[in-house]
Parts: sequence; structure tokens; C-alpha cells
Amino acid sequence: MNTSSLTVRVARKTVEAEDICSFELVSVDGKPLPAFAAGSHIDVQLPGGITRQYSLCNDPVESHRYLIGVLRDAASRGGSRAMHEHVDVGDTLVISAPKNHFALAHEARRSVLLAGGIGITPILCMAERLAISGADFEMHYCTRSRARTAFHDRIRAAPFSARVAFHFDDGAFEKKLDLATLLAKPAAGTHLYVCGPKGFMDSVLGTARANGWPEAQLHWEFFTADVAPQPGDAAFDVKLTSSGRIVRVAPDQTVVHALSAAGIEVQTSCEQGICGTCLTRVLEGQPDHRDMYLTPEEHAANDQFTPCCSRAKTALLVLDL
Ligand code: FES
Repeated sequence: MNTSSLTVRVARKTVEAEDICSFELVSVDGKPLPAFAAGSHIDVQLPGGITRQYSLCNDPVESHRYLIGVLRDAASRGGSRAMHEHVDVGDTLVISAPKNHFALAHEARRSVLLAGGIGITPILCMAERLAISGADFEMHYCTRSRARTAFHDRIRAAPFSARVAFHFDDGAFEKKLDLATLLAKPAAGTHLYVCGPKGFMDSVLGTARANGWPEAQLHWEFFTADVAPQPGDAAFDVKLTSSGRIVRVAPDQTVVHALSAAGIEVQTSCEQGICGTCLTRVLEGQPDHRDMYLTPEEHAANDQFTPCCSRAKTALLVLDL
């Protein structure tokens, strides 16, 4: 356990919607938990050595608990299933202190919050924060059906409920989210926040970018990504500047795994190109970016990459390691 890890106890487990449970986590010694801001997540260590990121969805003024929402995802690699099936009230979990890669922009004059499915967790926390601070915002929450809509009643009962539109895939056509209209014109000072499944996020960010939204006004957080090897993935070499050592990365290996096999550990968390923990500077060569963390501009600069999933377009990458 590293120094920023803490042990918490599951105080409550609640079914919030079909295939979605929330877990209320409290400190084991009764001391206040580390503070967090809207958009923060924690890393949760799960049975089987898996680490998963879950956004905090309670009010950040609370220091006695963290609330997370977990979707049992049929396509998951075991993380969400372990939470649903093996973690119960009274169990302890090792978690990280909160981290925030999805913070509210304090300079925003208006915010547009878009949640898809379980992506509601950080978005709900943001909506509550914005409402408490009297900020101008609107929120759209897209789900497959009412039965799969976590926190529906909490949102309907919230003082800001008039600012929230629900969009159900199986609902009325006129209630479907019209992204083209919503994102037609970027306005100075309006910031867009999106969290949800990859297809939803690609669609939101793609529409915003096509309509000229500046990157600085776009904020997103992915939960899962497909980091499976792709056909045609080839071997390449990485060179460590500190030692001059060269390590070969096989076609079916990640850079992190190749380095680990050579005795060189790179700190990781999500191992899916989502969190940025493994971000490493690239001094020479061109990465083949596979992450969801960096912006298109940062990808184009080619001076950093995520070795947990990204590869190389050149035969050699020289890394600042
Ligand atoms: S470990 Fe999360 S981006 Fe690489």
C-alpha cells in the first residue's frame, strides 16, 4: 500500500438502477476523509489485483463519506462485476486519495453538463456544486431507459431539477438529445463537460469540435476504453535516456509490460489510457496514441504518450525514463 492509499469500510450498498449500485465508503478510524472537488475520482483496489477508477458523486463538502456508483458492465474485465458480486456492507477496501482530472473551470460563465449512463456520477456532483454556487448551467442525462437511470429521484427532487433534461433511448423521439442543435454555436465562456460510454463521448466531442468549440472549453472523462491489440500491431523498441538501455516491445505487449519484464516499473493506474498516471515524455520517435486522456493537440505534439496502451509509429521511441 503506498502512502496515499487509505482503507475504507463499505457502510451502505444501494441498488440505484438496473445493474447500477452505489457504495458509501467511510473511514475505518472515524477520521475525516481527504477533501475532494467535483469531478474527482478514487482508485479502488479490487479482488484479483485489479484497480478501477470511480467518480465521487456525493457533495464535496462532506468529509465523512465517499459515494461511488458502479455499473455492472457485461463487457468489463472483471472490475465492476467484482464490486457488484463480492463487495458488501462491512467489507474494507483500499482506495487512493481523490484525484481530479475533470475539474470545473472556475472561469466558466455557463456550463453544459452531458452525462451518458454511469457517466452521471461526476456530472451529478458538478451539477450540485454549480447549483450551490449559483452558477448558470444546464444538464442532459442520457440513458437506455428509465429503469437504467441511476439517481433519477435524487435529481428530480434537487433544487436544480428544472435545469436537467432526461433523455431515454426508449423514450419519445422529441425528447431525444439533439446534439447538433445543443452544440451548434460555441459561446465564449461556455464550457462543456461530458462523461459516459465511449460512443456517447465520441459523438459529443466530435460534434463540438466540428462546430468549432475551442479545446479549452471541452472537458471529458472516460471510464473504460478498448485497449486490445489491433491487427497489424508490430514490435518496436524503446530507449531509456537515463541508462541508454533499449527494450523491445512485442506486438502483443504494452510498453509498460515490456519495461516491467525488463525490471523497469512505470507507475500506472487505469492501464486503459484514461487516467494519465503513466504519462511519459517522448524525446524522439513518433508515438501511436491509443489513449483517451490527451487532447488532439497534445497527440499532435508527439512529445508525451501513455505507455500503458499507446505504441509507436516509428521503430524506436526515446523515452525520458
Ligand atoms: S495508467 Fe492510466 S493512462 Fe496509463
